[in-house]
Amino acid sequence: MKIAYMAVLGIAVLAVAAVLGAAVWEGQHVAPALTAKVTPDPKRGEYLIRAGGCIACHTEEQALKDKGPILGGGRALKTPFGTFYGPNITKDPVHGIGKWSDAEFVRAFRAGRSPAGHNYYPAFPYTSFAGADERDLLDIKAYIFTLPSLAKPSKPHEVGFPYNLRFGLTFWKWIYFERVRFRPDPAKSAEWNRGAYLVNHLAHCGECHTPRNALGGFKSDMVLAGARTLEGGTAPNITPDQETGIGQWSESAVVDALKSGMLPDGDFVGGAMTDVVNHGTSHLNDADLKAIAVYLKSVKPVRNKVEKKK
Ligand code: HEC
Ligand code: HEC
Repeated sequence: MKIAYMAVLGIAVLAVAAVLGAAVWEGQHVAPALTAKVTPDPKRGEYLIRAGGCIACHTEEQALKDKGPILGGGRALKTPFGTFYGPNITKDPVHGIGKWSDAEFVRAFRAGRSPAGHNYYPAFPYTSFAGADERDLLDIKAYIFTLPSLAKPSKPHEVGFPYNLRFGLTFWKWIYFERVRFRPDPAKSAEWNRGAYLVNHLAHCGECHTPRNALGGFKSDMVLAGARTLEGGTAPNITPDQETGIGQWSESAVVDALKSGMLPDGDFVGGAMTDVVNHGTSHLNDADLKAIAVYLKSVKPVRNKVEKKK
């Protein structure tokens, strides 16, 4: 009896501590100081924003088709949790990020936290971006600030209870969000390390190609092994497994797929990969594409076939 009472009390104390802890964490509103000492370079940012695949998620489909102004937001991302809309990230001071400091911008990616201190939904793939280089992020910001500002309010997300409670994301982040930093492996080549950085962080390939568990975290033993994408498509296995992955692809076949969308069998990538190629990887230079290929060919092969949904 007494033991049961103690257990209940213990759980209650833990629960209260968890809520208080979450509230304190939620309340950390000051972005940490930055370490980069280089003046941001918008030209570099123009390249890196492609590597980051930012344009497709933050630009309305019509504007993309019309080659209209980019980053005004409004692109719908349909998920089982509801529909998210990429917000306006132009330099508009009211509807965009015009008033953000560099530190606030970096924190959005590295900690998934807004200037006002709220948590972002992982529909914004900060789970991968957390490892992005501070200088790369500031170059991207500098490039965004060279573009016209669009005075267009961001569309509110259409998500039901309980996902509409951003507070709940605190718990999700405790479980799934690691504040990863990219650490180059000195035993590997510079090319391999560049590929690892792009695949796992800036170009966030795993956000679609790595399967997730019930709460949306990556299955850590199946990195890049293929998955149903949140939008309901199928992202194939891109580990070097001979049968179910890209084991039989040459490096240049991987480069071609990312550059032009053309697959070894002469077909073209479709679905969500179309945007990745058109507004992302097709703009990357051969050295970066080769680095991605070298890295992909080196990861642990995982046998996993994701059946295409008809
Ligand atoms: C897969 C789609 C996707 C990609 C790729 C993506 N974003 Fe986002 N981004 C979102 C969504 C959705 C949100 C809103 C998250 C929320 O409200 O919690 C967001 C939020 C943001 C915010 C915060 C805006 C605000 O008003 O608080 C910034 C800044 C941002 N993204 C910049 C970028 C940049 C720069 C890149 C590329 C390096 C990028 N995003 C890539 C979907 C994406
Ligand atoms: C927004 C989700 C998404 C992201 C991000 C993404 N992919 Fe894909 N990828 C897909 C989907 C979906 C397909 C399947 C396209 C189809 O059905 O034709 C695909 C197909 C591919 C293929 C062709 C594989 C095959 O067997 O046909 C390769 C290679 C590939 N992706 C590599 C990458 C790399 C490398 C990255 C990171 C730079 C990446 N993808 C990022 C969704 C994504």
